[in-house]
Parts: sequence; structure tokens; C-alpha cells
Amino acid sequence: MKVIKVFFAGLLLLPLTSCVQETTKKGDEAIERKVESILSRMTLEEKIGQMNQISSYGNIGDMSNLIKKGEVGSILNEVDPVRINALQRIAMEESRLGIPLLMARDVIHGFKTIFPIPLGQAASFNPQIVKDGARIAAIEASSVGIRWTFAPMIDIARDPRWGRIAEGCGEDTYLTSVMGAAMVEGFQGDSLNSPTSIAACPKHFVGYGAAEGGRDYNSTFIPERRLRNVYLPPFEAAVKAGATTFMTSFNDNDGVPSTGNTFILKDVLRREWGFDGIVVSDWASASEMINHGFAADSKEVAMKSVNAGVDMEMVSYTFVKELPGLIKEGKVKESTVNDAVRNILRIKYRLGLFDNPYVDEKQHVLYAPSHLEAARQAAVESAILLKNDKDVLPLQASVRTVAVVGPMANAPYEQLGTWVFDGEKARTQTPLSAIREMLGDRVQVIYEPGLAYSREKNPAGVAKAVAAAGRADVILAFVGEESILSGEAHCLADLNLQGDQGTLIAALAKTGKPVVTVVMAGRPLTIGKEVEVSAAVLYAFHPGTMGGPAIADLLWGRAVPSGKTPVTFPKMVGQIPVYYAHNNTGRPATRTETLLNDIPVEAGQTSLGNTSFYMDAGFDPLFPFGYGLSYTTFEYSNVKLSSATLKREDVLTVTFDLENTGRREGTEIAQLYVQDKVGSVTRPVKELKRFTRVTLKPGEKKNVSFELPVSELAFWNIDMARVVEAGDFGLWVAADSQSGEEVFFKVTD
Ligand code: BGC
Repeated sequence: MKVIKVFFAGLLLLPLTSCVQETTKKGDEAIERKVESILSRMTLEEKIGQMNQISSYGNIGDMSNLIKKGEVGSILNEVDPVRINALQRIAMEESRLGIPLLMARDVIHGFKTIFPIPLGQAASFNPQIVKDGARIAAIEASSVGIRWTFAPMIDIARDPRWGRIAEGCGEDTYLTSVMGAAMVEGFQGDSLNSPTSIAACPKHFVGYGAAEGGRDYNSTFIPERRLRNVYLPPFEAAVKAGATTFMTSFNDNDGVPSTGNTFILKDVLRREWGFDGIVVSDWASASEMINHGFAADSKEVAMKSVNAGVDMEMVSYTFVKELPGLIKEGKVKESTVNDAVRNILRIKYRLGLFDNPYVDEKQHVLYAPSHLEAARQAAVESAILLKNDKDVLPLQASVRTVAVVGPMANAPYEQLGTWVFDGEKARTQTPLSAIREMLGDRVQVIYEPGLAYSREKNPAGVAKAVAAAGRADVILAFVGEESILSGEAHCLADLNLQGDQGTLIAALAKTGKPVVTVVMAGRPLTIGKEVEVSAAVLYAFHPGTMGGPAIADLLWGRAVPSGKTPVTFPKMVGQIPVYYAHNNTGRPATRTETLLNDIPVEAGQTSLGNTSFYMDAGFDPLFPFGYGLSYTTFEYSNVKLSSATLKREDVLTVTFDLENTGRREGTEIAQLYVQDKVGSVTRPVKELKRFTRVTLKPGEKKNVSFELPVSELAFWNIDMARVVEAGDFGLWVAADSQSGEEVFFKVTD
């Protein structure tokens, strides 16, 4: 039996002064001297100019005057290398101090080669593939001159109505911390001043994913303890991974918009975490503080943002307009402006922009074969097998005719997902094209989409697809959401399949042929009915450029599904928020509750013996967090702890046997959950603390071990201190957040 060890060395708790940082410190000292030297020569206007980010617009002439005057520190949305060089040349040669511009772009899940949406990537539970994806995105983006991306988005999202859930890593603090750090490392590479490195920008700081009702831009109410226990850790992990910039968020939390929030920007980010990079506001989030009713006018906007700790303003132009006056009046100190400019110059130096401001205009790295291959593998690992009755998948050689139906089967633009300004549908490989290419003449493919796009209502089209499907051995139904149905400002109150897609699946199922439903979407959808009538369901999220070949590989068994849900799938919208790491109520659900239809007429009122659940939805979701099937089966056994009693400085070793009990090689994502039984404040019923991907041949058994420093059981307690409280803990090693047998240990003083 082989032994494998998994040890994410204290990702969340590493002190900021690690060896790597010691070595970079020397370089940093030289940079600090250069920063001070430039700063001492800057006029106030030039300083304020560095704090201004504009969006690329019009012709170069429009922008050149501003750049010459030193009124621009960064430009977003310019992606033409020739224009980028031209603008940079103006900054370097025609502005008084020759300070380079920082070119920014939202490179969220790929630049040209589009990877699965981040939520899909999170389903891989594979930080390496996520890091590789970010590296490739950086290589492609930097090859046209972009040196700053506004990613990763690491907002914890527990409400799939919120369209931006697509952009993040789901509901879990630990998973998001690991994945976010991997993205930061991928974007920034080994050395920030390599021309292929781009500055990462963890966003949106902070709490944005908790928008009330899942409506974008909405208020949040996250008390400090929850903020620290749930929403802040991914950002802290990103700082530890070396993130050089941060973006504020649109929401106001408990009445304070993030762009004006001194507590999060100064107390937490700068003082507690020691962040010394750039804080940029989100698009006009500074001036939107007027709409929030937090600032009366643009003057107050500039004052409140800069005093709260924002260094650079994205597009709303109040800094340039108002800061000179505010400084004169003493409402903003010049030293505050100096600090902001230091942060900006420091990152420009670290990126090597002063020495190497231009990009080679003859780049050849876009869509490199290795990039496409990595995107394909990421799409394979992002797909989750939610159901597979009678092993209908993988499709067997006996399947001679398949019907390919549904609006997402051949929708090259839609499968790319949200935030793909630079992705091209012409380069996208759809499931239909991949299936045809893979099968050649071996299998007959009948293509009848039925619906042209996901929202379409077209009974005649549905009837046509159903008739065509009747001629096939197996029906492959590709449904889901068009790209525009998720992402920023694209929230939904109804998470059922749009248009006539539900009708289509129901009608296909009535043919009696096995229906394999493949969902391509930006969020978990309430697909209970479709799951019920389908023989198999593969959830691919928006899988990106190479989604087609990845899905074809999975359907025909050239690849084996391994993804697990990075977010809970609700049965119905009314269950939201539904997430696994909730606190217990005083009356926890037992799953034996009497549901709606079993309640007698004229039943007398009683709360006795009742629990926290919905009469119409029960307690459980459609699929819990961490859930996903394979083409093989796995068995967990023999869970052992290195000790049942530990001290705070100890490391707990958890070992277990994992066996592939099926007939195919497959990869299982084993998960370790912990519950702190009694705390000075109530604690979640389970929290993910470790996970690992284990690949096993049929019949193979491995002894796997997780190392968990007890220090990682710390949480922000009643005294608002991060401590490990002594007491009893439960622990599960399991295939998902709802299974596994509990074992116990104790932490003692
Ligand atoms: C979004 C950010 C994005 C920025 C720049 C905003 O609307 O909230 O996530 O980075 O625009 O495009």
C-alpha cells in the first residue's frame, strides 16, 4: 500500500516574515530608495495623477495630453500592444518624470485561451491546475502588454441568485483561500519583475458576495466576527501569497461602503496584515458613495476614500478634481497622498516597469497548444458528475446513434462564460464539434438543438428535437445558461432552467431513451426535476475554450469525472442561503420532520419536537457541498488520528485508507472536515480543513494522510481574538460535506 501525504503548510497562518520575504526585502530596500527619490521630485499634481486610473477611450491623442501632464497612473482596458507601447512611450518620454503606466485588464479565467469560470475551476479542488491556468492567463495577457489583472475574485458566495457567484470559488472559506492563493501565485509568477508576470488584485474587499437577496451591489450586514471568520481569510491568504494589489467592493457593510471603510482598508489590511501594495477602488465605487448617501459630493468622495486608505481611483476622477483643494483645506494630509503614491510606485518598480516598460509587439503565445491542453484538462477536472444511473456513462461502444440536443450543444460564445472580453468564439470548441470530430463515422450524430438559446420558448423546436431524439440510442441534452445570465449585475430570482429547457428535458425523458443532461451554467441551478428524469447529469459550468473536447472525453470515458460541488446546490430558491458550514440551531433538523403533504388537515398548532427546516423543501439541499461522483467507486476506511488529545502547538496527523472499489481508474477528492463542539461563540457544524486529489487504479488502496496544525482550528472568539479554544472536536474524512463517520479528539490547555 502506498502512503501519500498532504500538507498545505499552514497556508492561512504563516507569519508574514517568511524566508522568501526576507530575501525580497533587500530588493525592496533598493526599491524604497528609488520610490523616495521620485516622490521627492513630484509636484502635488503629479502625485495625484498617479492615483488616477482611466479607462482606455477614443484615440491615443485623447489620452496623450493627460499622460503628458502626469495625470494618469494606470489605464484599464487597453489590449492592443501597439497602442499600449505608444501610450507608454508618451508616459516614459513626454511626461516630466517618465513614470511608466500600469496597464490593467480583467483577465479573470484566461485572456485568449479561456479556462472554465472560476466557480468551475474551484470544483476541481486542484490548486495546481488553477495556478497553471492563472500562469497561462498571465503569459498571454502580458504578451500584449497587460501587467495587472483584476483577479482573483475571492468573495465567499452563498447565494446563487447573485450572478457574480460565477467569478469566485464558491461558498467555502478554506477552498477559496487555497484557490485564491494559487491564482495569485499563478498570475504573479516566480518573480514579479519577469515580463510574463502580472499583478494580481484580490477582490472585492470585502463581503460583496453577501449582497442582500443576491442582488448585485446590494448592502451587506456582516458583523465583525463573521467577517473575520468567513469573509476575510481568503484575502489574508492572498496577501500571504504575495498579492500586490487589492480592490474595494461596491457594497456597504453595516452602513459603511468598502471604498470608505477605514477599518478594513487600514486596520485590517495595512496594520494587521502588513499589506504594502496598491488599493484601487472598484469602477466608480468611489463616486457611487454619493448614491449610497455616504458622501454628499465629489469632494467628500475623494476625502472619504483617500482617508480610508484607497490609493487609486478607478475612473470616477474625483481625486484629480478634488484632492488639491482638500489638501489646501487640511481635510486630506499630503502625507496620506504620499503614502498612496509610494504604494503605487513600489508596485510599478516591483513589476520592473521602470526598466522594461514596453512589450514585444510580435508576440506568439496566444492559444499555444500547451495552453489549450491545460484549458482542456481544467475543463475535465471542473465537471461534476451529479448522477449516473445504471452506469449509462461513460457511453459504451454499443451506442451507435446519439442525439445531440439543447441550446448549449453548439454555442461557442455562451460556453465561455462571464468576463471574457478577449476570448473569441471562433476559437472555441463546442461539444457538438468535438463529438463529431472524436467519433468520425463510428457513431451517427443527430443534431437537433430544439432551442436556439437558453431563454428561448419554442414548442415547435422542442417537438422537432424530441422527434429527432427518438431515433437515437442515447440523448445528450446540453442545457444551461447563456453567458450573459451570470456575472456582474446579472442576478436571478428564479434558478430553474430558462425558457423551454425544462420542457425539453421532460419531453426527451418521455421518449424512454436514456437522457444524459449536460449543464453549462454560471451558477448552481435548481435542476431537481431534470435530475430526476435524466439517466445521468454532468455539471460542466461554463467550461471555456476547450469545453467541447473535455466534455466529449468525459462522456465517452476517455476521461473520468472527478469534480465536486464548490457550493451547495439548492432544491429551490426559497432555501437560500443554504450552505454546509452553518451554525447549529437550538433545534437542529433530524431529517425525520413531517413535510407539507403529511400534515393532517386542521392540525393543531405545536412547535414541540419541531426543528429548523422547510415544510416544503425539508432540510437538505439538492446536492451538498463537496459532492460528486466518478465512473468508479471509492471506499473510505480506517480513519486514525495521531493522537486523541493535542496541545495548541501540535500537528494532528489524520490517516485513512482509500480504496478504488470499482472497475476503472479514477480520482477522488478526499475531504477533511472538523467541528469545534463547544465554543465561546457557536461554531459551524462542519468546516473544511483539508482536501486532496487521490488517483487510484481499480482495486488499488492507498493510505493517505493529512497534516493539520492545531493552530488552524483557531477562530475569532467572544473576545474578538483569534484563538484555539480548548475542548472537544469532531472530525470527518469523507467524500463530501454530508457523509463520513465522525471521530473525536480534544485540544487541551
Ligand atoms: C467590477 C470589477 C472589475 C471592474 C473593472 C467592475 O464593474 O466590479 O470586478 O474588475 O469593473 O472592469
